[in-house]
Amino acid sequence: MADKILFIDDDIDTLKLVGLMLERQGYEIAVASDGVSGLAKAASEQPDLILLDVMMPDLDGFEVTRRLRADPSLAHIPIIMFTAKTMVDDKVAGFEAGVDDYLTKPTHPAELTAHVKAVLTRSAQARAAGAEKATIVAMLGARGGIGTTTIALNVGLILQRDGHDVIIAEFNPGRGTLALELNIPNPAGLSNLLRRSLKDIHLRSVESEILSHNVGIRLLPASPHPREVELEQAIPQMEAVLNNLASMCTTLILDLGSGIRSYVKPILKLCDRLVMVVEPVFPTNILALNLLEEVETDGISRHKISLALINRVRTSLQIPWRQVETDLGIELAGIVSPAPEQAHQASQGSMPLVLSQPDSLISDQMRKLAQGVAVHLRPEEG
Ligand SMILES: Nc1ncnc2c1ncn2[C@@H]1O[C@H](COP(=O)(O)OP(=O)(O)O)[C@@H](O)[C@H]1O
Ligand SMILES: [Mg+2]
Repeated sequence: MADKILFIDDDIDTLKLVGLMLERQGYEIAVASDGVSGLAKAASEQPDLILLDVMMPDLDGFEVTRRLRADPSLAHIPIIMFTAKTMVDDKVAGFEAGVDDYLTKPTHPAELTAHVKAVLTRSAQARAAGAEKATIVAMLGARGGIGTTTIALNVGLILQRDGHDVIIAEFNPGRGTLALELNIPNPAGLSNLLRRSLKDIHLRSVESEILSHNVGIRLLPASPHPREVELEQAIPQMEAVLNNLASMCTTLILDLGSGIRSYVKPILKLCDRLVMVVEPVFPTNILALNLLEEVETDGISRHKISLALINRVRTSLQIPWRQVETDLGIELAGIVSPAPEQAHQASQGSMPLVLSQPDSLISDQMRKLAQGVAVHLRPEEG
């Protein structure tokens, strides 16, 4: 099927000339001679690309761009701004309004065609990437400090080694510990993204903030600076970052911290699975029940939720794990035993448990837990 291009220009001669030229290249063409009818045509025609003049009598090209970008059903359509102006300021204003590319009139037909092709190819690639979304596994602690990040890191690493293409993202701004555990200085990536306006959160900007750590995994750790906790209010930005991350890997492990923070419910709606991390001791067991009730009333069904039990105290002090499992009524993905020395050594050496102590009981338990998570993932090739 031919790509459809909508050309919006108040100069009828240009409309005809360029329209005809593009038609000859095999594109389907729709035209509009002012901003208002251009917006209406964009909605009715759903073009693959919009060529847009800047100077028009009613709405100028910048305003048309802003309105297109503000409409969720039109915001994805790439725009090439096509104008007589050669001022650098206009280009900057165009990019700020959200155009994808810029051409100055008069344009050589070959140059126009090359730009049209390049922009269409890029947007098709972005769509293709978007169609192949990762399985998103959220990890959420019933309370803080019980080992949610440790589990996310180690399970993520094991899945990566088992052939999944994994990214671990710590969605917990201002409370991050992942970077500290791995001795990554100044992890500002997530905060940088959450401070951006929505149109500036795309594959390129998200990709540029991902760290490839030498333990063999891609990470987006959260800042450990408490003042950045306020960024947890940037929920649309978090959703946009999440969607982009999901098109860059096959398995996205999200560490959501603990409890129901403001972003947790909207983000959980985008996740395929939830692993609740619970310590079988009072009062964490009660917090876990409350947390489960809360996510369930928000429409996350029980069969999407697994339980990871982590013990940090002697067995004699714990509530039997079978009882906790029965009380919660969700699938048990795995159990992790107390291992304070190993956990301490891993932190000291900035090396995840499963790599620094692969033969320990806790590494074995992490691998079992990863298997419990993997049964819900798509099998990987190779
Ligand atoms: N099985 C375990 N036994 C003992 N200590 C652990 C265990 N797992 C993790 N820890 C330690 O507990 C502390 C908190 O872990 P962390 O994963 O950061 O928790 P959370 O993300 O829930 O706040 C860390 O110092 C970690 O090394
Ligand atoms: Mg944590």
